[in-house]
Amino acid sequence: MNKMSANPFLALTALEQELLCIFGTGDLGRSLGQRLLQTGYRVVYGSRRPHSCGLLPQGAQPASLVFICIHREHYDFLETLAPHFKGKVLVDVSNNLKKNLYPEANAEYLQRLIPGAHVVKGFNTLSAWALQNGPSDANRQVYLCGNSAEAKEAVAEVATKLGFTVLDKGSLSSARELEDFPLQLFPEWRLPLRLAFGLTVFFFFYLLIRTVVSAYVEQGKDISFRIMASLANKVFPIVSLIMLSLCYLPGVIAAFLQLYRGTKYKRFPDWLDRWMLCRKQLGLLALGFASLHVLYTLIIPIRYYVRYRLAAATISEIRLNHTIPFDTTMAWRTDSYYAMGILGFGLYLLLGITSLPSVSNALSWREFSFIQSKLGYLTLFICTFHTYLYGWDKFLWVSGYTWYTPPGYMLSLVLPSAVMLLKLLLVLPCVDRSLTRIRQGWERSDPE
Ligand code: HEM
Repeated sequence: MNKMSANPFLALTALEQELLCIFGTGDLGRSLGQRLLQTGYRVVYGSRRPHSCGLLPQGAQPASLVFICIHREHYDFLETLAPHFKGKVLVDVSNNLKKNLYPEANAEYLQRLIPGAHVVKGFNTLSAWALQNGPSDANRQVYLCGNSAEAKEAVAEVATKLGFTVLDKGSLSSARELEDFPLQLFPEWRLPLRLAFGLTVFFFFYLLIRTVVSAYVEQGKDISFRIMASLANKVFPIVSLIMLSLCYLPGVIAAFLQLYRGTKYKRFPDWLDRWMLCRKQLGLLALGFASLHVLYTLIIPIRYYVRYRLAAATISEIRLNHTIPFDTTMAWRTDSYYAMGILGFGLYLLLGITSLPSVSNALSWREFSFIQSKLGYLTLFICTFHTYLYGWDKFLWVSGYTWYTPPGYMLSLVLPSAVMLLKLLLVLPCVDRSLTRIRQGWERSDPE
């Protein structure tokens, strides 16, 4: 038996198998109606052309809850129905094609047109497709906002019955934020994408000049074919390593800032906040670049250039009847950096997988921070070590500095080495103790 509610809108719900009205017969209106019918509601459609569709069935009680599934441009016709809507809950599900298209949010406009109704903004972040298929993991949430708590409660009840989780975003003044939500284009990816693009372009031209251009200018040799695989397999891992260290740098800066200020209660500067908020995206992009590096590395043995060089070296050995002796150091070096690369990449994958919401939701906070922080630093260390081993003793070869420029991998080592050095300072027992106290709420009292 349905319990009678103190909420008048819910009370009506309980009395009968509730009749809901949907204005608009577009994709969203139809999908919503279908879901509501499946959940056991009675549904009646309203249309801008009441003569052709019939606004309400003859003699029917108007529904207490009306879904307005029409575009804002057609709201003015609703004004003529204002007396019918007095005291009713109008759910505004509309969206716009662009941000800031109108001076006020659609829902606020609707409330102004029909002041006697209780407008609730909601359901606009769901697609018609999501409504038809039922809530999936990624699409469970329905955001609501409105000035009447009872009206929101009534809408929340319908949403819950449809299987959605409701998130109350406050009064109708939040409607603009909800309407902008579906128009966002990867906002938290913007900075990481720009950074990845900038670094890729910089290192591409840097390496192009110091390899292809310099070989052409100094020796008249055309090695431009190297752009496709060799150069790419330098740019991608370099960008990946730098981006991985950029995931951990803001945390280190924040820790030093807290130590310097002697408190955790002061806000971080905006740039640091923004940087911290996009660490996951930075990490996922870095993983993407590392994956490209691994794929490029896999094709090294089948490259024509590599096979040609191997064959030429073997033929030359036979011709000269001279076998190059086995170099144990070289074997150690190559095996070690391959092994570190593989280990680093394995941990990289683990970091990427555990950052996905469906996985991280299943982890406790301690498990999540253990993986993302402790294993994260270990990943950074192993990948950096992989690059140091790759460089081996070439760091000391001044002849490797084409046109006075150091090789790309040397540049890529600067940031991760600095991050690890700073982290090492933070884990020194005396520093760690101070930081832990600050993070537990202790504040240094500055002498006035
Ligand atoms: C270079 C293998 C994973 C960073 C190299 C090279 C190889 C290699 C063969 C030399 C490329 C060349 O001759 O130009 C591998 C393997 C990996 C792996 C087999 C895992 C399956 C990683 C990961 C990172 C990384 C996860 C971290 C971002 C680098 C860097 C270089 C490099 C920065 C130097 C690029 C250059 O300037 O030549 N790796 N790697 N590698 N690798 Fe990896």
